[in-house]
Amino acid sequence: MLVSATDMLKKAKAGHYAVGQFNINNLEWTKSILLTAKECRSPVILGVSEGAGKYMGGYHAVVGMVNGLLKDLDIDVPVALHLDHGSFEGCYKCIEAGFSSIMFDGSHYPIDENVAKTTELVKAAHGKGMSIEAEVGSIGGEEDGVVGMGECADPKECKAIADLGVDFLAAGIGNIHGKYPANWKGLSFETLDAVQQLTGELPLVLHGGTGIPADMIQKAINLGVAKINVNTECQLSFADATRKYIEAGKDLEGKGFDPRKLLAPGAEAIKATVKEKMELFGSVGKAD
Ligand code: 13P
Repeated sequence: MLVSATDMLKKAKAGHYAVGQFNINNLEWTKSILLTAKECRSPVILGVSEGAGKYMGGYHAVVGMVNGLLKDLDIDVPVALHLDHGSFEGCYKCIEAGFSSIMFDGSHYPIDENVAKTTELVKAAHGKGMSIEAEVGSIGGEEDGVVGMGECADPKECKAIADLGVDFLAAGIGNIHGKYPANWKGLSFETLDAVQQLTGELPLVLHGGTGIPADMIQKAINLGVAKINVNTECQLSFADATRKYIEAGKDLEGKGFDPRKLLAPGAEAIKATVKEKMELFGSVGKAD
């Protein structure tokens, strides 16, 4: 059964580790992530962007697929199904469709409007026992059409949003979706520290988990990050393994063109990436 992400992230913050949010795109992605979480005895959050939700057929299709896999694969670790960078309308659709968690990305609204909309959605999500993430500042780069300039969050605005009762908060600290450019200045630990000082026990979220060096991940966890989002890195591993399979001509040998064979190296590569991240974030063995 799907669970809200509140308890797993409270435990992570108290235990000084982070739970990974891995974005899903299709059945292979979802199966690989869930099986790895089970093998690693790790809690996990499945992230769904609005674009990926549409690609998979719609939010009801996503809920049906995930609930079916939890049952058929006997997934006995905590799993949350979370809308990633949701619009106001998208959040309502996922509340209705049976997600267990939502993110409202109101970071592009003036702060008063972000506060008003977040307040309404906190009530709607909590009324259904779901968790809700909000965002202040912005995550640089582009993800599925959501573009951010990468402004660092204002810690006072973070406190204002935290006080609305959100369960975890994404604060922009110089993080970027996609690959980090060679001239990236790194994470602003000064901002993260100031945000944590004002928001206390609230679990903080680090978006743009692809390509952040291990020492920065560790430092971010020490400063209150309890959820780390990874999307691009699974896409890169999947594409790389699939390219190798095709370049080696394996799709032309026997029944190598069978989608179950063609997609298998990519699916295995996602498993390896997710395991590596769970080890790095310290969530292995924390499910029980
Ligand atoms: P990456 O694509 O950089 O891994 O970021 C994922 C993310 O933050 C999802 O919201």
